[in-house]
Order: sequence, then C-alpha cells, then structure tokens
Amino acid sequence: MRVFITGGTGHSGSYIVPELIAAGHEVTGLARSDASAAALSALGAKVRRGELHDLDGLKEAAADADGVIHVAHRQDLLPSGGMAAVADAEVPIMLAYGEALEGTGKPLVAAGSIGSSGYLGRPATEEDPALPVGDEHRGTLRARNVVETTVIGLADRGVRSSIVRIANIAHSPTDQAGFLVQLTAIAKEKGVVGYPGDGTNLWNAVHARDVASLFRLALEKGPAGSYWHAVGDGGIEFREIAEAIASRLGVPAVSIPLDELMVPGYFGFLANIVTQSYPASNLITRRALGWEPAQPSLLASLDNGHYFLTEGTPRV
Ligand SMILES: NC(=O)c1ccc[n+]([C@@H]2O[C@H](COP(=O)([O-])OP(=O)(O)OC[C@H]3O[C@@H](n4cnc5c(N)ncnc54)[C@H](OP(=O)(O)O)[C@@H]3O)[C@@H](O)[C@H]2O)c1
Repeated sequence: MRVFITGGTGHSGSYIVPELIAAGHEVTGLARSDASAAALSALGAKVRRGELHDLDGLKEAAADADGVIHVAHRQDLLPSGGMAAVADAEVPIMLAYGEALEGTGKPLVAAGSIGSSGYLGRPATEEDPALPVGDEHRGTLRARNVVETTVIGLADRGVRSSIVRIANIAHSPTDQAGFLVQLTAIAKEKGVVGYPGDGTNLWNAVHARDVASLFRLALEKGPAGSYWHAVGDGGIEFREIAEAIASRLGVPAVSIPLDELMVPGYFGFLANIVTQSYPASNLITRRALGWEPAQPSLLASLDNGHYFLTEGTPRV
C-alpha cells in the first residue's frame, strides 16, 4: 500500500514508519523542516514537504495515497490554547482527509486517547463511545473526543476510518517528552517521587513499538468506524510507577495528599490528571485484529534504565 503519514518523526510515528516499511508498504511522510525530512529519509520513507495548516496539501497527499495515518498534532498550540486549541486545529484536517477519501473505501487511521473510566466503574473498552462533549467532561479528553467523533463519522461517507486510542503512557527507549519523562524530571527537581493520595488509581500504558504494529493492522484490515485500544498494561497503580522511578533515582516515593493537589504544587500542570483512574481493556482489539503487545511492559521499560540516563548519553 502507498501510505501517507503525518507525525512520522514523532514518538509513535518514528516506530510506525519502519513497521510499515518492514511489512512491504511504501511510506511518504509529511515533513515541515529539513531536520524532519532527514529523519524520515533515515527511516526509509519518502518525504513530502508541508505543514499541517496547509489543508489543500494534505488533501492532495491523501488523494495520492492508498491509505493515511495521522499521528501529527499541533503541540505548538498547547501553551496558549491547551488541548481545545489542538483539537480545533485537528478537526478541519480530518474533514480535509474526508473530502479527499470520500467514497473510496481507503483507510484513514488517526490517533485518539483512552478516556478515564472512573465514571464507568470498570475498564474502558473499545465499545465505549467517545466521552460526551458536555461540561462535565472538560479538558484534554473532551477536546480529543471531538476529533475521534469526526474521524469515526467519516465511515458513513465511504472512508475506512478508525481511531487507535493510545494508552495514557506511551514508553520506549526513544521517549523524549512523554509522561514518564515528565514525572522523572519533577522527581529530580523535588528530590522525591510523588503519587496522589494512596496511589491506588490505575494508569494504562503501552510500548511505542506495540502502538506501531496496531496502527499497521488497523490500516491493513480494520473495518470502517472502529475504535482500537493500543494498551499493553491495562491498569498499573500510580504508586507502583512512582516507586519504580524512586528506586531508580535513589529517592523516596511519597504520598501527595489530595487536598494539596487542588493548588499547583508537586505535580504542577499535571495535577488535574494524576488523580484520575484509567483502567482500560484491549480484548476487542486483540480478538478482532490479532494484535498482541510484544514489547516490554511499563515497569520493565523503567527497569531497563533508559529513562534515567544522564543528559548527553545516547539512547538506543
Ligand atoms: N501517551 C501518548 O503519547 C498519547 C496518548 C494519547 C494520544 N496521543 C496522541 O498520539 C499522537 C502522536 O503522539 P506522539 O507522542 O507520537 O507525538 P509527538 O512525539 O509529539 O510528535 C508530534 C509530531 O507532529 C509533527 N508536527 C507537529 N506540528 C506540525 C506541523 N505544524 N506540521 C507538520 N507536522 C507537525 C511533529 O513533526 P516535527 O518532527 O517536525 O516536530 C512530530 O512528527 C498525538 O496526536 C498525541 O496527542 C498520544
């Protein structure tokens, strides 16, 4: 398949590109700079120069391809407008793909997020719809779900569209800015690793290489209108994650009382998400696509030490 991918230089994308090429696909990646173009070439992809805000360019690239994978996101909008601004920029992109692919049956696979199922009282499944877009669900997930709903809606217009919901923590030896990197940076600064309350709230996680194999399977054979869960670990207690980081850094793991989380303290801008519980299932994804996460778990990833290399040490 001739595949057009955005975000091919990012954390997930840099695993997806080689995964596709190894499976025999011809990959063209969007690059907005010389550095990104060089990174894509090094991964074995063809390069299409362009920017996410050039919707005509994206339409042309999608129309020229047999399938599209979209994992780029306008993270530059985060500081000023938060996830709402990122999602606002994302929806027109999805609609542009829709125009290019309408009636073709070609696949469009885009990134989504696992919602907090705290309100469900059970692990989130692939059958759970995107969270309602009401005031009761503010913030990151609400904004992302507008995008998910838009992509899934394209299935009614003859696009084989699907969403791969990426676990809350994506980890790998090349992770540069993910949740574990942020937690570790806070811990180094504060000299302790905090966990919220008793730390029994559950987080889900996945290795970025397993994310890549799921995107490939969704592209190759996922039915239109599907949600998939890129989840390796379905529920790890926050406290366990904190203790694993603490043991590596040689500092204590400590409870941060919940009332202290109301003000930006230990966790800073992460305070509003660290208390959430995100147990998630991957059963439907595994059964329907034959996907099996094969890479190290989150705790194994932490144990192998690459998150604790000193600056300047090459990551392999
Ligand atoms: N746990 C998780 O990581 C997680 C969970 C749920 C959902 N997601 C979603 O999964 C997707 C992939 O995440 P990620 O961590 O792999 O992303 P990432 O590492 O932050 O990479 C972002 C990518 O987007 C590209 N990009 C940004 N702005 C662009 C622009 N204006 N024009 C063209 N390209 C642009 C970047 O290209 P450059 O190389 O040129 O900067 C880079 O390839 C995102 O939508 C993210 O929100 C991630």
